[in-house]
Amino acid sequence: MEREKWPSRWSFVFAAIGSAIGLGNVWRFPYSCYKYGGGAFLIPYFVALLTAGIPLMILELSIGQKMRLSAPMAFTKINKKWGWVGWFAIFLSLGIVIYYTVVMAWCLVYLIHSFTLAWGDNASEFFIHDFLGLSSGPGDLGGVSIPIVIALAISWLMIYFIICKGVQRVGKVVYITVPLPIILLIILFIRGATLTGAGNGIEYYLKPDFDALTDSDVWLGAYAQIFFTLSLASGIMIAYASYQPKKSDIANNGIIISLANCGTSFFAGFAVFSVLGYLAYSEGVAVGELKGVGGPGLAFIAYPTAISMLPTAAKLVGIIFFLLLISLAIDSAFSMVEAFASGISDAGVKQSRAVKYTCLSGFLVGIIFCTGAGYYWLDIVDTFLNEFGLVLVGVLECIIVGYILGTWKVRKYVNKVSEFEIGKLWDVCIKYITPVILGIVILDNLYQRGKGYEDYPTWALITGGWFLIFALLIVAFILNRRYRKWD
Ligand code: TRP
Repeated sequence: MEREKWPSRWSFVFAAIGSAIGLGNVWRFPYSCYKYGGGAFLIPYFVALLTAGIPLMILELSIGQKMRLSAPMAFTKINKKWGWVGWFAIFLSLGIVIYYTVVMAWCLVYLIHSFTLAWGDNASEFFIHDFLGLSSGPGDLGGVSIPIVIALAISWLMIYFIICKGVQRVGKVVYITVPLPIILLIILFIRGATLTGAGNGIEYYLKPDFDALTDSDVWLGAYAQIFFTLSLASGIMIAYASYQPKKSDIANNGIIISLANCGTSFFAGFAVFSVLGYLAYSEGVAVGELKGVGGPGLAFIAYPTAISMLPTAAKLVGIIFFLLLISLAIDSAFSMVEAFASGISDAGVKQSRAVKYTCLSGFLVGIIFCTGAGYYWLDIVDTFLNEFGLVLVGVLECIIVGYILGTWKVRKYVNKVSEFEIGKLWDVCIKYITPVILGIVILDNLYQRGKGYEDYPTWALITGGWFLIFALLIVAFILNRRYRKWD
């Protein structure tokens, strides 16, 4: 049977941009900037974009498009011993989407709360006690939050209806889910920029601390951020590119996708920091002294606090902010489901069944994250899948293409179909620069984690973190042995 195709080039480019632009752009990026020395972070960030982000993006797009298969079968076809890398990648997608949809569910509930500003003047108390019902630790499950479960079901139903008819419908939906958040972000930017104290926030965001450049953590942080923000190493870009006609451009598309994503992050930084500046001004503290800005607290504590202080149109700003987060998250979420479902459907499961069962099991497993201990587990799973899983797949992709398939073969193909040619520097990045740097990222992480992890007890990290990574690797090995179609 002929493989499905995107309705047009721009459907594909929009879908890939939609996957890349997500919750990561609005809180993870500004927060990393803040943590790693403001404006100076942008230098390693753009170096990472050029030496790892764009080369890997081109690599993934060309594998998907050339093989016309999603990650597991594409890698199996390259070399049957290495198919497990593709399987592992799509299981990472599944693992990530299971908690990503829970965060989306939080946004849905907060969207409703925005109509009444339900968090009142203590957003942090509201988030932790009233909303999450946070338990005493990961071992104490507490109760299941019914509103969050209902919102989670709604999120999965939306995802199901968008992808159940294949990429034709996805290709149309992304004409809404990509421009909408950008328009909402522009509105928030304008509202933010006109607030008192906005300038201080933006100064904090951009002011370079050049000493930070000699700190290896900053460089590692920048590489990690690039990796995750571009949705690499999880089978997504390979799956999306597999629905492209064989002669489509790769180099230009890859660069457009990468720059559109990183440009959005840079812009989102202004919208977020102007509001943080206002918050600091209202509370009479310095921008650097704000609490709860890192991680999810930014969206569910710091921003809501600022919203309820707004002199005018507070509810409207709240509604726009949570609509922004939902429209950012949805196309990232369905891209991860698509990566997984198309992976198993290439191995022989019927596409419609693959989508149905992926959504159903994703929802059911996700209920764990709606318990009182859900927040702890979400943090643990997020850390391990991102820090160890994705970076590992990135290194393996470089090794497979660099030393088994041969970079020159891929480059020849890319240059034949693309609107401009890529040079030998690409080979150098894939064979040496990217794997070496990602290898250092992994070793550094292992070392840091080996020293212990202050937030959680060891048993929780071993079961929730290491067990999960090893279990996924073992499943990937088993599936690889079972589905070597090209034997
Ligand atoms: N890139 C998205 C963001 O920034 C999140 C995302 C989508 C993602 N797919 C991914 C992250 C795969 C890691 C792996 O929010």
